[in-house]
This record gives sequence, structure tokens and C-alpha cells, in this order.
Amino acid sequence: MYDELAYELTVLPGTNKDGEKEGFDRIIIRPGDTLSIVGATGSGKSAFVNDIEVLAQNDTVTGRSILINGEEPSEDLVRDPAKKPIALITQNTRVIADLTVARFLALHMQARDTGAQSLIARTIDLANEFTGEKIAESMRMTALSGGQTRSILIADAILIGQTPILLLDEVENAGINKERVVSCIREYKKSVIFVTHDPYLALITDKRVIMKNGAVAGVLEPGDRERAILQTVTGMDAFLWELREKIRGGELISDPVEAQSTRKKAGVPA
Ligand SMILES: Nc1ncnc2c1ncn2[C@@H]1O[C@H](COP(=O)(O)OP(=O)(O)OP(=O)(O)O)[C@@H](O)[C@H]1O
Ligand SMILES: [Mg+2]
Repeated sequence: MYDELAYELTVLPGTNKDGEKEGFDRIIIRPGDTLSIVGATGSGKSAFVNDIEVLAQNDTVTGRSILINGEEPSEDLVRDPAKKPIALITQNTRVIADLTVARFLALHMQARDTGAQSLIARTIDLANEFTGEKIAESMRMTALSGGQTRSILIADAILIGQTPILLLDEVENAGINKERVVSCIREYKKSVIFVTHDPYLALITDKRVIMKNGAVAGVLEPGDRERAILQTVTGMDAFLWELREKIRGGELISDPVEAQSTRKKAGVPA
């Protein structure tokens, strides 16, 4: 087992899609840091987190290298998934093993040598805070929806894997409660990188990496300067979440006054 908080990642520059060197010196991700990766479709956001996931050593399409605690990662860290302090969850992440949710989590607990039986229930409970339709222990992993699968994998990475670094590639589109995911990541002091097109996630992270043409085009550290807009966006999101829940629940949204009051409650300017 690794010490949960002992990992600092360094990303060293590679080249853009034209083979030109990227214009940054190094990007350091410290324990508990939150980053978002933004940029147009095809700009290289997924490639950036993939480099981190595979602990690239100038051996991927981007030519980037990743250091752990300032050093080249050791062979066994690169090769043994159970030792890797990183979990990547994407839109396409699926579990192909035909196991029940409880068995899947139990196997992971064995591999990680962690925790008591009660951890399985806690993990499923946490996943159920992220997703809408409830997940039960007896369900088969292959039968879960995309959003349910991602919710289980995030909860699993946090509680069972105790993974210090989470890479979440466009997870917001699965109807996952992203506010709850963010608060949970804070609570457990994880480092997280969100690849995202979502303003809330982009604004809530400490740093924002901007991708263009396969390269990092800039890194913003907004500090408090985006606090006002974050508040507005949080309100808008709460409004949209409630509206989405109503629509999902089969309600007809015919009353603009009611919609207005939900919006006011959420603090969204008219
Ligand atoms: N630095 C680079 N050099 C060469 N090819 C690159 C580089 N970065 C990304 N690519 C390639 O460009 C393509 C698009 O990149 P990627 O999938 O990372 O985009 P994205 O920003 O995640 O897009 P989307 O928002 O659609 O998910 C991929 O085939 C990827 O391998
Ligand atoms: Mg992508």
C-alpha cells in the first residue's frame, strides 16, 4: 500500500500536433490539488490525462513525461495496476467481468488488501449519492448503466482503492451529481483532474489547463477572481438539476411561475 497523500506529479512538456515543443516548463500536481483541462474538441485533453494514467515516458503520441515525487516512476509502479496511485475514469470505462457489484468490490478489496466487509456497503452507498437509479449489491456490473458504472468506479477508487489521484474524463455528462463528487473529493483530500466542457467543474478547480492543437496553451490560477461567477453558475446548475430531475420524473413543466421560483431559490438571476 502507498501513503495516500505522498504523491506529487510532474508533467514535463512534449510536442503539439505539429511536432513543436509545448510552451510550459513543468506542471506540478500536488496532493489535494484540483485541476480542470479545457479546450476545443480534439485539442488533446484526453491525451493529456492518458499520459498521466500510463505514466508516459516520452513514449506516447505527445512525447510528454510524468514524474512521481520528482523522479521517474519505478518499473513496478508502471506495471502493477494495484500499485498505481492513479485511477482514470472515462465515458467509455466499462467493466467487462461478469460479476455482481458486491463481488467486484470484494475482489478489489482483496487485491488492495483493505478494509472490512462493511466497506462494500459504504462504497455502494457513496455511488448511490452520485447517481439517480439506485445500485444494489446483487446487480451485475455488466448490467449497470454508463452513469451507474462510473459512479461505482469513482466510489471504488475513493474508498477501496484509496487512490490519491483521480482522472475524470468528461464524467459530467452521465447525469452524475457532480457537486457531490466534488465535495467528496474534497472531503477525502484527493487530487483530481477533470477533463471537462462544464463551466461549473472548470470554475471550481484551483487550476485550469487550456489545450490547443495537442499542446498546453496556458495554465490559469484564478484564485478568488472567479468567485462571483462560480456562485452564479452554482445557482444555475442547481436550477438545471432540479429541472432535469422533474423532467426525468415525468413532470410537465408548464408553469413558468413555478420554474421562476425554482430559479430564484437557486439564486439564478432572471
Ligand atoms: N500532442 C499531440 N501530438 C499528436 N497527436 C495528438 C497530440 N495530442 C492529441 N493528439 C491526438 O489528437 C486526437 C484528439 O485528441 P484528444 O482525444 O485528446 O482530444 P480531446 O480534447 O479529448 O477531444 P474531445 O473533447 O472530443 O474528447 C487524438 O487522436 C490524439 O491522439
Ligand atoms: Mg476527450
